[in-house]
Amino acid sequence: MKRLIYISRPIPDKGLDLLKKAGYQLRLGQTHIHDKRELLSGVRGACAILSMLTDRIDAEVMDVAGNQLKAIANYAVGYDNIDLAAARARQVKVTNTPVPELTDAVAQHTVALILAACRGLRDADQFTRQNKYHGWDPLLFIGKDVRTLTFGLIGLGRIGKKVANIMRRGFGTKVIYYDTRRDPHSEHELSMRRVSLSKLLATSDIVSLHVPLLPSTHHLINRKVLRSMKNDALLVNTSRGLVVDEEAVVHALKIGKLSGYATDVFECEPRLACSPSVARRLLRLPNVMFTPHIGSATRAAREAMALAAAQSIIDVLAGKKTRYIVPST
Ligand code: DGY
Repeated sequence: MKRLIYISRPIPDKGLDLLKKAGYQLRLGQTHIHDKRELLSGVRGACAILSMLTDRIDAEVMDVAGNQLKAIANYAVGYDNIDLAAARARQVKVTNTPVPELTDAVAQHTVALILAACRGLRDADQFTRQNKYHGWDPLLFIGKDVRTLTFGLIGLGRIGKKVANIMRRGFGTKVIYYDTRRDPHSEHELSMRRVSLSKLLATSDIVSLHVPLLPSTHHLINRKVLRSMKNDALLVNTSRGLVVDEEAVVHALKIGKLSGYATDVFECEPRLACSPSVARRLLRLPNVMFTPHIGSATRAAREAMALAAAQSIIDVLAGKKTRYIVPST
């Protein structure tokens, strides 16, 4: 009998074809986000799960899958949706998809948000659609030149580095970063400095978040931190919603501490905020820009992610070393 792989949501064919060619039977989940019941019925009997960041893969899910479960390949670079301790205890390997195409896609999306916010693209589009444009005007939609700003990166992983590269080399923006580890090579390459978190917050005109969601980064951006930021700064989040306390951001925007918030992720996804009142206030604020968690949504990235996840499953099930293993599983 063919060994079964559960793929919780449709992904590009390339990944599915690779698994079929390797001789596996595939059980495909539906397009929507699964509730626990659906997830539990999907994983039963699977030797590998190809999961999405919207699937909470905990001990119960692993136990219901059964003892034959050997691999969980998360279709994302982040893996905060997976209980790693439970996986370790069951000797289940966990993999992710930090492929270069994903790095590029998320970095490009981050820069798109920055430029859109600095040049008021959302409002300019609305203005034009509403037939308000009556001719060239020297004072119309005056924006910020990113070259003149200080760009502060929190988290210098693959995506953070790529964003730093585009900002520095593409626009000549001054870049500073905060990370728990120093990266002298990138500092040299991009003429940037590592600074303390408090210095970064106090001096950056744009603060961009590129950290994984961990207990130490949960609500990293909170009321106190926002108070210590430079007045009129822009906050950009393409990491995880829970890194930011959205209620605190609403407050900072209201009092004019922040000039804008551009985000691809939300504290209580897929809801805009954890409480209806914060969601309402976020929606009413003119200087907030949302995208629906599409940082990695380029065809190139999604296909490369599908191939990487499929290959990881094939490798783990064959007992081979695999490239994108999550540390300590
Ligand atoms: C990921 O892969 O973790 C990102 O959230 C994609 O946007």
